[in-house]
Amino acid sequence: MKNFLKTAVIAIVLVSILAACGQDSKSTNGDDKKVLVMGTSADFPPFETRDTNGEIVGFDIDLAKYIANELGYELEIKDMSFDGLIGALQAKRVDFVASGMSATEKRKESVDFSTEYHRSGEMFVTLKDSDITSIEGMNGKKIGVQLGTIQEEGANKIAEEIDLEVKTLNKVPDLIQELKSGRVDAVYLDKTVAQGYVKELDLAGFNDPNESTPGMAIAFPKDSEIVDSFTKVIDEMQENGELEKIAKKWLESEE
Ligand code: ARG
Repeated sequence: MKNFLKTAVIAIVLVSILAACGQDSKSTNGDDKKVLVMGTSADFPPFETRDTNGEIVGFDIDLAKYIANELGYELEIKDMSFDGLIGALQAKRVDFVASGMSATEKRKESVDFSTEYHRSGEMFVTLKDSDITSIEGMNGKKIGVQLGTIQEEGANKIAEEIDLEVKTLNKVPDLIQELKSGRVDAVYLDKTVAQGYVKELDLAGFNDPNESTPGMAIAFPKDSEIVDSFTKVIDEMQENGELEKIAKKWLESEE
């Protein structure tokens, strides 16, 4: 009986290990090239957005393509809501996330991050004729934020201090639409993204005086074995000018 139990336990352990291997979303295609599945929320120009053909393009896409290519992987992109990205990593439905995600200490409890590849700060976007030019000026107003972002957290914190109504939506373009139609008075965004909208749609805004937010990094399931190789390629891109090239292509016009 004891021996039987031992065998049974070993069998169960073996089966679970095999099952765990099978769950890995890295797969191979016909050419035997390994595929990496990337999760993103393609609502965040210039980092990830859809072009007129509906194709997902942007800074993060070029970055991920370059890294995948360097490491000999093919890239498959899954568009999902930003709010679901951490969960997708934890469930290993994606191998990594490149989505303008800030590498916060809180997120580090549930996912791993590469080295940071961009730092932008944050901004409050308003209509051009708005009288809101400071955080205090938002007293009695409504602010729009994207679900699951550090801005949602930040806005909720501000709302503890002043009378501020926080409206949470899933997609950034919808937040901008709310602003334009007057259903919110301001939208809280990463500065690089905010500057793009301000310029394109002739809006206004002011910088978040709090500059302590971490930079953007690529996220992975905890203990993923590809984190270090990604960081290594990003470091190389910093040295050989490739990162600068991508930044020039997508960001320069907004500075
Ligand atoms: N940087 C912010 C955060 O990490 C917002 C990122 C939103 N990204 C997106 N693709 N919509 O919380």
